[in-house]
Amino acid sequence: MNAGGRLQVDGLDIADGARRLVGGVSLSLARGESLGLVGESGSGKSLTLRAIAGLLPAPLRIAAGAVDLDGVTRTAGARRHAGPGVGIVFQDPAAALNPLMRVGAQIAAVRRYVRGRSAAEARTDTLELLERVRLPDAAALAQRYPHELSGGQRQRIMIAFALAGNPRYLLCDEPTTALDVTVQAEILDLIDALRREERLGVLFVSHDLPVVARISERIAVMRHGEIVEAGPTTTVLAAPKHPYTRSLLSAARAVSAGRIEGGR
Ligand SMILES: Nc1ncnc2c1ncn2[C@@H]1O[C@H](COP(=O)(O)OP(=O)(O)OP(=O)(O)O)[C@@H](O)[C@H]1O
Ligand SMILES: [Mg+2]
Repeated sequence: MNAGGRLQVDGLDIADGARRLVGGVSLSLARGESLGLVGESGSGKSLTLRAIAGLLPAPLRIAAGAVDLDGVTRTAGARRHAGPGVGIVFQDPAAALNPLMRVGAQIAAVRRYVRGRSAAEARTDTLELLERVRLPDAAALAQRYPHELSGGQRQRIMIAFALAGNPRYLLCDEPTTALDVTVQAEILDLIDALRREERLGVLFVSHDLPVVARISERIAVMRHGEIVEAGPTTTVLAAPKHPYTRSLLSAARAVSAGRIEGGR
């Protein structure tokens, strides 16, 4: 039983018809904690995150296992439905945001229609949310369209948009992959600060082990739809057990060594 304050996934299978894409995934995340999910392309990270959010694209479905969010359980055959309590940040905010709507109005709409705030309250909330994601000059920024913002600003808007629903868990799917290294570090710091300030449970998905290690207290390594290794980040990095984790680590080390040798 999960009395609350925890996201728990038990033996999750995700299938496309008879084809199993994700198998036997179990993980657990308390509010205020951060868990990283790392693995190569196609290993099932995004599907796992989408199943947790209740947003598997049809005809994919939960074939077995359960997702329990603060005591509310979703099992095989559950309706496709974004449960309350989760906010999602995707890699490409340009695709996730409406290009024809000012960013402030998009955030305000969540406050009005999801949180039941009045138009005036929603406007005030929006400015406050923009400040929470450290966007200066919030009033002017709220009037812009997504394409009038930098990549980093757009990702901050995406995070504000995710926070607008008052989530207890923030599910991040490669949120910094499209950003340059400096902006990437700023966004990671922001997500980490929000985790502490708002006691958010953060599930952070990326193929990039150093990025995941930087932001996550614990990591789970995925390959071919299964978790092959999991544990505290320091333990997994210091003494990786699975050969695949070892290969991820040595690849990451080779990249950073190359950077130093290349004079960067
Ligand atoms: N809508 C879909 N229909 C059928 N198969 C899918 C669908 N979405 C993903 N898959 C398959 O499921 C597997 C896992 O995909 P998933 O998107 O979860 O990988 P990922 O780990 O997020 O990879 P990446 O790092 O490239 O984002 C892959 O083999 C993929 O081809
Ligand atoms: Mg993915």
